[in-house]
Amino acid sequence: MIPPTFLLLCLLYASCHAANILYIIPFTSTSHYIVLRPIGLELARRGHNVTVITSHREDEHPPSYHQVVSDNVKIWELMGMKGRPNVFTMVDLSMKEYHKQVLWIGGTATTELALNSTTVKEFLKKENKFDLVISELFYQEATYMLAHRYGAPLVLVTTFGNSMRTNMLLRNPLQLATVLSEIVRIESPTSFIGRLRNLYYSIYEYIFWKYWYLPMQDALVDKYFKDMPRPLPSLEELHQNASLILINSHFSYDPPTAYLPNLVEIGGVHIKEKESKLSEDFQKILDDAKEGIVYVNFGSNVRSSELPLAKKNAFLNVFKKLKQTVLWKWEELSLENKPDNVVIKNWMPQKEILAHPNTKVFIAHGGLLGMQEAIFYGVPIIGVPIYGDQYNNLLLAEENGYGKILDYHDINEHSLERILNEVLKDDSFRRRAREMSLRFRDRPMSALDTAVFWIEYVIRHKGADFMKNPALKLNWFAFQMLDLQLRLRSASGFEYIASLALDSLDTGHSLISDASPTLLLLLLHSFKP
Ligand SMILES: *[C@@H]1O[C@H](CO)[C@@H](O)[C@H](O)[C@H]1NC(C)=O
Ligand SMILES: *[C@@H]1O[C@H](CO)[C@@H](O)[C@H](O)[C@H]1NC(C)=O
Ligand SMILES: *[C@@H]1O[C@H](CO)[C@@H](O)[C@H](O)[C@H]1NC(C)=O
Repeated sequence: MIPPTFLLLCLLYASCHAANILYIIPFTSTSHYIVLRPIGLELARRGHNVTVITSHREDEHPPSYHQVVSDNVKIWELMGMKGRPNVFTMVDLSMKEYHKQVLWIGGTATTELALNSTTVKEFLKKENKFDLVISELFYQEATYMLAHRYGAPLVLVTTFGNSMRTNMLLRNPLQLATVLSEIVRIESPTSFIGRLRNLYYSIYEYIFWKYWYLPMQDALVDKYFKDMPRPLPSLEELHQNASLILINSHFSYDPPTAYLPNLVEIGGVHIKEKESKLSEDFQKILDDAKEGIVYVNFGSNVRSSELPLAKKNAFLNVFKKLKQTVLWKWEELSLENKPDNVVIKNWMPQKEILAHPNTKVFIAHGGLLGMQEAIFYGVPIIGVPIYGDQYNNLLLAEENGYGKILDYHDINEHSLERILNEVLKDDSFRRRAREMSLRFRDRPMSALDTAVFWIEYVIRHKGADFMKNPALKLNWFAFQMLDLQLRLRSASGFEYIASLALDSLDTGHSLISDASPTLLLLLLHSFKP
């Protein structure tokens, strides 16, 4: 007899043979690449023929992993700045300024950089066939056109969490009372003002994206896809028609959100169960720190060495008084007045440090990847949010009791000492961090396996159109039930409801059990003067 697992494998193999996959990663930022990288490599490891358009070259990879390496220019150069800006100054950008000056300009520039690369142009001239196109979902919509070009289903991957814009496009529930628009800073999200701001920014972002930003991406399509037969679908249509959207979030630390079946959470996809070993010098520092380690790293974009003098001295004066050893990612060779218990390095093996049992607290900027790593390894966080989603990420940590926010402008010796002592001495932070770690890890399959399962699912079911929201076929009026509202609020609304109720008696159904909550709401509304 043939063993059943063997049969199952054959079945799966037959229905999902090696596919030809195009994976586009146009955004040049390293932190984004860290999230997107494992998915392409794993698909190739499982036998798919994967072609990746990226500015980050992999030296070791499976044989069926092909790279089209696009140009890599630092984002601030693309944005027309002379030198590298001090990223700490971004703390004062409003959400609107951040969108306009950073995301929209940076997004268009990196998209153009990829499409204008000689390697990419050469590659696109060739006759290739793809069964699936995967693209990052950030600010580079023009690349979605490649799905149309190859007549392949489109899968999108986000490096950030829930996206209000995507929810609106796919007509996924918005849950504006509890789910925040990704990069708006709201101190108490469920208060009246909090919900109002969330509503306002969600609509603002959507409208400006659609009418101001997307046309710039359309212009790139016109410029770089001249050879494609017109008319072309709009980028908005392509986004709405995506078969699958993989989101870098997880309900164990994010607010629980209702997602359509083709929106799948893969938060933590960049974390492996077993990380590589620490180098000898790091291992020794961590093992020897019997009183524990305070780990300081503001991420790859923000440089601690650019801290203003007063804030730098505040850190040094507080660290000097600690029994713990401080490991600080410091980008320069030396640090004046460095206390003996402070170790500086310009690069840190972050996941391995967080995984070490002696690490007591992580002082960070609240970037999503670092947060997920701290959660995974159960390390409490003190966060100084600078830009993007960092404030929101840290707010969740504070609400869940495993972290504290330290406002950048409030950094001084006194505040730093108070907050650091609180997190080091109050055991509840550590306990909560451990609980979060258990929750975050407890899943039917790993984040990477989840991502690959759903990607292969889309391939097996040729785009899996049946997973897409049927509400996309309705016009906006019908989707919002506005026609019903109008009908029911009209003078004859009451009679109409009554006739519905009578009809339902005739057919033996009760109106209450059949009616959707919306209908009931409308019923109540229609009684109002
Ligand atoms: C794999 O993809 C490359 C394009 O990067 C293509 O040249 C090659 O023919 C593909 N291989 C197979 C077996 O389809
Ligand atoms: C596109 O690339 C060419 C070189 O290959 C360069 O001369 C040109 O300025 C680039 N265009 C843009 C808009 O970046
Ligand atoms: C939407 O995607 C499906 C595959 O999932 C494809 O067959 C269809 O042509 C696409 N429609 C548009 C308008 O791109």
